Amino acid sequence: MLLIFSIAAIAISAWLLRQNTVSRRARPTKLNLPYVQFDGDNSASRYVAETEAILSKGYAQYTSKGQPFSMRNPNDAPNPMVILPVKYLDEVRWLPEQRMSFWRHIDKQSILTQIGGPGINDEVTLAARSGMNRALVYLIEPLNEACVAACTKEIPSCPEWASVLPYPLIIKIFAGMSACAMVGPELGGLDSEWQSLSMRYVEAALSAPGVVKVSYPTWLYWMSQYTNKGVRTMWKLQTRASELLAPVLQARVAATEELKAKGQRKVKGRRNTSGAGLSMLFDLMENPEVLPDIQEEIVRVRSANPTWTRRALGELRLLDSFMRESARIHALTQYTAVQRIPTEQWTFKDELTIPAGITLAFPSFHHNLDPAIHPDPGTFDPRRHLRKREEIENTHRFHFASASTDTMNWGSGRHACPGRFFAQETLKLMLVHLLTRYEFKHADDKTGVPRFISRNMFSIPNPTLPILMRERKTAP
Ligand code: HEM
Repeated sequence: MLLIFSIAAIAISAWLLRQNTVSRRARPTKLNLPYVQFDGDNSASRYVAETEAILSKGYAQYTSKGQPFSMRNPNDAPNPMVILPVKYLDEVRWLPEQRMSFWRHIDKQSILTQIGGPGINDEVTLAARSGMNRALVYLIEPLNEACVAACTKEIPSCPEWASVLPYPLIIKIFAGMSACAMVGPELGGLDSEWQSLSMRYVEAALSAPGVVKVSYPTWLYWMSQYTNKGVRTMWKLQTRASELLAPVLQARVAATEELKAKGQRKVKGRRNTSGAGLSMLFDLMENPEVLPDIQEEIVRVRSANPTWTRRALGELRLLDSFMRESARIHALTQYTAVQRIPTEQWTFKDELTIPAGITLAFPSFHHNLDPAIHPDPGTFDPRRHLRKREEIENTHRFHFASASTDTMNWGSGRHACPGRFFAQETLKLMLVHLLTRYEFKHADDKTGVPRFISRNMFSIPNPTLPILMRERKTAP
């Protein structure tokens, strides 16, 4: 009872304080830019499932003509956000974090610090860039073993067509591979406490902030750490993970000299690749004509290599092109990329001015579907990027993980995703395993069910859609 009174007293004081602050604070920022919104009902609830329509309208009217526009910012209402055409990208992408902040955007989107959590910052980038990427060459075999072990354990026996929900399956496969790379054998076993903690944490971290955003006013987000079950669970899981990790890290510190001597390092750092994996599986089921050639490529490359290595995975060029095409069509689940928040008013060379604190972003999804960038953009062409690679000498461009000029899926410049190489190799290992052992198809009674769902600024493959799976009778 005392606790409830204390919380109520704190909430009332915070409310009074906020009223005082709000009356002194400036009104929502007005921009001298066209504002794109829904005709008729323009309520916030419409943006949950229909944001793509606004971005599409803005792209046709403004972005495709090289002009910026503004729209509702789902992470910062009632302030607008600015959607910029690609001509502004070079001026933004290498600006230092102190000037054009990526982490402020992440914090606004995830609201982690507002609900009592630690913020995410450059440390995770450093871990991915200098640790995981360097170690990746040594990790392919253990990652493949983790993938095979997870598939063997999680995929039910299916000599005949059986209905399976693929999303939880794919999450478990990536959880197995991520644990293998990020915490190593001490904690990362299939049935380990770490494995279950990390999966429950990802689930809580993906759902709890969303629940807080719709159930609490912005100024009361902080209270959710005491009153919301999802948020409390999230922080409990994180505390337990720290307890598990502490002795392992201590042992690693002690062994650092030895690791340095061997030139090997392992780090933590992680992001969910499951949405991209499920999108690719759906795209394969919808474009089955390319499957025999992808399977032939896998068998050919595998028979020339005793084990999977980074080099061998790199030889899977058709599979790679198919993956990049899937990423082009679905923009790796995000409608916008390179979101940044200027810390002070920012003025571009052409005098376009963005006030401090206003989010700017580039429309990656619609950029991927622009006929000026990709001819015949509505056609799913699995060989599109393979042809591009064959036409140029620099083969580092246009492979799945390359942040080339024809896509903004991985971001750009200073903050371009450092985990994209890990994502590339783990996705390939998973697809290689699934495509050589199983067949997949959609069930006839699910033809009308949407394959992809729009949620705010994201487009995700439908996680509740079951598919039919069967063990292959013969090797491809
Ligand atoms: C398909 C999976 C993934 C997608 C679609 C993705 C996408 C992105 C995007 C769009 C950005 C922002 C870039 C920018 O704004 O310029 C980013 C940043 C980042 N990603 Fe990923 N990512 C994925 C996987 C991963 C993985 C597996 C890791 C870690 C192992 C990771 C770690 C990071 C980090 C640390 C940053 C911040 C980079 C910085 O500030 O310099 N990502 N990612």
